[in-house]
Amino acid sequence: MSYQTLLTSLENNIYTITINRPDKLNALNKTVIEELSAAIDEVYNNIEIRSAIITGAGEKAFVAGADISEFLQLDQSSGETLARKGHQMVFDKIENSSKPIVAAVNGFALGGGCELALACHFIFASNNAKFGQPEVNLGLIPGYGGTQRLTQLVGKNRAMQLIMTGEIFSAADAYQYGIVNKIVEQNELLNEVKKILGVIHAKAPLAIAKVIECINNFDHTQQGYDFEIKKFGECFSTGDAKEGTAAFLEKRKPDFKGK
Ligand code: COA
Repeated sequence: MSYQTLLTSLENNIYTITINRPDKLNALNKTVIEELSAAIDEVYNNIEIRSAIITGAGEKAFVAGADISEFLQLDQSSGETLARKGHQMVFDKIENSSKPIVAAVNGFALGGGCELALACHFIFASNNAKFGQPEVNLGLIPGYGGTQRLTQLVGKNRAMQLIMTGEIFSAADAYQYGIVNKIVEQNELLNEVKKILGVIHAKAPLAIAKVIECINNFDHTQQGYDFEIKKFGECFSTGDAKEGTAAFLEKRKPDFKGK
């Protein structure tokens, strides 16, 4: 598919989605949200795609937030609708994808951009990346999951501070807070993400999907353990688990079929 605001490419079963409005620092307007929704549907439905990367065009920004110019005409009801639709069309769909989706944060990841990265399964960043939830500067709060997903990652007190101050923080701080898994030179960012996805592609796809499901359903009560126990049991109904265990015992590489 071709898009007005996205560049896409499929190489080695990795679908790279580049948000392409560099003159507006890749801000998420209505079209970007609609097109991201369609691109994530491709990730879900195209069997050639085994994983995806979300990044931003240019050297300055991943995504500098929701498009503020679209906020002027919003009222209470349309504001709520905008946020709800964004969750359903993009952010929740990314989080719940059974195929890994990784954020390659190559510059500013602010507001909705930070939330977009947080919705991905994990984040690699370039050393010039900057993160933040600056909505309070506009008289707003995060609406694409920031109060929830950031809190889960960094804990309540730090999330309170970051969101209440709207502070913009460095990739190094984001790494220290546990938001970013790895920091690399900007020109190496996509290669590094592709490398880690290559490692994941060698594993059993159904097992990877269950890992995502279990970790997304993290719950440190018995419910969390019960969910994991059920998913662990389900693995034994897959050919891949039979192949993986047999390959280990026969001292050979497994040949996973995703079945
Ligand atoms: N929505 C709409 N347009 C945006 C945008 C956003 N979130 N972020 C940047 N832009 C636009 C700017 O309006 C400018 O457009 P123009 O050239 O037509 O005037 C262009 O992108 C470049 O941004 P500019 O502000 O000139 O770059 P800068 O280097 O001086 O500052 C930022 C960079 C990221 C600090 C600054 O753009 C900014 O604060 N953006 C808003 C961040 C934000 O509040 N995000 C949360 C929104 S809920």
